[in-house]
Amino acid sequence: MLLKTTPGIKPSEVTDKKLYISRRQFISGSAALIASGLVGSSFLGKPGDAPQEKLAIAKRGEYTISESITPYEEATGYTNFYEFSTGKRSVKELSKSLRTRPWTLSVEGLVEKPKKYDIEELIHMFPLEERVYRWRCVEAWSMVIPWIGFPLAGFIKKCEPTSKAEYVEFTTLYDPEQMPGQQTKALDWPYIEGLRLDEAMHPLALVAVGMYDEMLPNQNGAPLRLVIPWKYGFKSIKSIVRVRFVEKMPRSSWTKKRPEEYGFYANVNPNVDHPRWSQASERRIGEEGRRKTLMFNGYADQAGHLYSGMNLKKFY
Ligand code: MTE
Repeated sequence: MLLKTTPGIKPSEVTDKKLYISRRQFISGSAALIASGLVGSSFLGKPGDAPQEKLAIAKRGEYTISESITPYEEATGYTNFYEFSTGKRSVKELSKSLRTRPWTLSVEGLVEKPKKYDIEELIHMFPLEERVYRWRCVEAWSMVIPWIGFPLAGFIKKCEPTSKAEYVEFTTLYDPEQMPGQQTKALDWPYIEGLRLDEAMHPLALVAVGMYDEMLPNQNGAPLRLVIPWKYGFKSIKSIVRVRFVEKMPRSSWTKKRPEEYGFYANVNPNVDHPRWSQASERRIGEEGRRKTLMFNGYADQAGHLYSGMNLKKFY
């Protein structure tokens, strides 16, 4: 049986919530059949594309918020991915050629279990949850996106970091032929990001492999990316090929580029302005006017304790 990727409507085109949910249940059901082996998944694309398989969403994650979801076309058409372009509306087209199969994620550094994971193995290793998260970019716009993925904590436990590991460093694919932006000096390539190990172990930190019922589109960081909802978007690194456990704080591409503007922590904080603009309010894509930005992007109760006693003006 063939299951097509897009059997019709996008969530954004559906106004009736009930219809959206029943479509979602239908898809989850189909995917569960694939997972159970009752229905074979099929490969409809060209070599290098992700298989056109629906994701088996095991549950709606407990951190899901109930704010209105940003239209699919905005979340997938207005993206930051400097490996392709610095123009947010150009990335969708330019990233079409990214080959996401085969794809290997290498686990290195201070771990008991260094290993190279094939993407298919990873996608099927953990039950996938859907979590609707607030999404706030440092450029003061925001969205609400239903991400699909698995908690980073579960993956880290599998890697068994040693007692010396204090930080986790993540690296994006480096392939200037596929990623024309890497032929420019827009950033120091490859894109690198990092988290303190306890931040990475926080249950809100997600490894996303999909969004809006589907595999991640290339422009949103296929085949796997981070989603750290209490931090500015630039911490959520896309198209990851390496996870390295280290003793020292990693130097991320953005902190190398402009250390006075982009700190290691990058927690959403309305009280600490970016040197070139205020961070006190945001433009929610699809809404009129602006709304007040919430401390830790509204996740203060869950994630605020990670920074207790820290001077957040100094550690921005
Ligand atoms: N990851 C890589 N590899 N390259 C990038 O340019 N941009 C970051 C982050 N991850 C970026 C990246 C920035 S600045 C933001 S705001 C988010 O991705 C955007 O994610 P989205 O386009 O899926 O909304």
